[in-house]
Amino acid sequence: MLDRFDIIESLHKIFSFERKIYSIMRKDLGSLPAVFPMPVLMIAAYDENGKVNAMNAAWGGICGMDKVVFYLAPDRKTLANIRAKKAFTVALADEDHIKEADFLGIATGNKMPDKFERSGLHAVKSSRVDAPVIEEFPLTMECELLEDTDMYGERRVVGRIVNVIADEKVLDDKGKVDAAKLKPVMFDQFRNGYYAVGEKIAQAWNAGAGLMKK
Ligand SMILES: Cc1cc2nc3c(=O)[nH]c(=O)nc-3n(C[C@H](O)[C@H](O)[C@H](O)COP(=O)(O)O)c2cc1C
Repeated sequence: MLDRFDIIESLHKIFSFERKIYSIMRKDLGSLPAVFPMPVLMIAAYDENGKVNAMNAAWGGICGMDKVVFYLAPDRKTLANIRAKKAFTVALADEDHIKEADFLGIATGNKMPDKFERSGLHAVKSSRVDAPVIEEFPLTMECELLEDTDMYGERRVVGRIVNVIADEKVLDDKGKVDAAKLKPVMFDQFRNGYYAVGEKIAQAWNAGAGLMKK
């Protein structure tokens, strides 16, 4: 006949066995930038002669409410251009232009002076900053350079978002950007994939509100 202590001991053995199995099933992957999704930012700037160049950058995001930040290798042509003009634009790559967006991440303006022309994209000058606005991308941030600093060998570039230009076709009936219409692309650095945005699954600052009452 099992007493209470025997049962507790058996349960303890079962749980510790489960924990061992669980830890066997987990793997250490080493040091990785293990964040998903990452954005697909299209950074565009003029060189000192007013020539357009643009690049693809996934290592970046938003800082506060009116600043964009991204990390560039020091040899990027785009970085030299940003320094020359103290301005740039950042567009979100969309599904309809994934080929062009990827090309901007493969070719460099350092070796291919007509990189932007070859992309087949078109640009007009921003009316607010000295930087090109790529016409094909539906959402663009016009930015002035605030900071360009060393960050462990990369350059951390911070820009103030002076204005955001959005195609009307990506706005909802209240004038807000609708992600389903924008169709921005996400980058997966684990397997170098580009992904489409899925369905909206919940409302932010709301889905967890019920737990506040406990
Ligand atoms: C998906 C993707 C993401 C990238 N992210 C970055 C990044 O965040 N920072 C960076 O310096 N280069 C990044 N690159 C590489 C640059 O886009 C690439 O070196 C490009 O040739 C630079 O262009 P440029 O020299 O004309 O400015 C990325 C490339 C791809 C395809």
